[in-house]
Amino acid sequence: MTRLKPNLTEVTITVNGEVHQDLIPSDLLLVDYLRQYKALTGTKKGCGSAECGACTVILNGRAVYSCVMLAVQADGMSVETIEGVSDGDTLHPIQEAFLDAGAVQCGYCTPGFIMSTKALLEKNPEPEECEIKEALGGNLCRCTGYQQILDAVHLAVDRMKEEGQQA
Ligand code: FES
Ligand code: FES
Repeated sequence: MTRLKPNLTEVTITVNGEVHQDLIPSDLLLVDYLRQYKALTGTKKGCGSAECGACTVILNGRAVYSCVMLAVQADGMSVETIEGVSDGDTLHPIQEAFLDAGAVQCGYCTPGFIMSTKALLEKNPEPEECEIKEALGGNLCRCTGYQQILDAVHLAVDRMKEEGQQA
């Protein structure tokens, strides 16, 4: 990280596998860096205060709220957003499971839930129900009532196990 002016900092951040070097305001939030500087608007900004999980991304393998992190804190790190989850036009099994289980209604919360689910399954491919609830406990949904989301995670786990696929 190179500080060039009092309020600008040069960062190197790997976003969805691509290395990006940018000169950014030192107080820029990670969610705004992704949405405004990288045009990755799949990451949503909901509450802006670490309560809803809509802004969840995976940072060095861990699900984090990008609305309460500065982009400069991600310098030298690897960020994965919802745009990096699918393989071109082919949806990731977690995304397919969310659609098939009816876990997507307005969809605003969905990227955050999918990133939290992916971070969980990368570490724990066969989680217990309580572990799923704990991992998704920081994500809120106003539409589904949550049961469809839990169903979606179980469906994704079953399908990925059958196909021998890793998150
Ligand atoms: S927008 Fe980040 S937790 Fe709500
Ligand atoms: S699907 Fe609308 S907030 Fe979750």
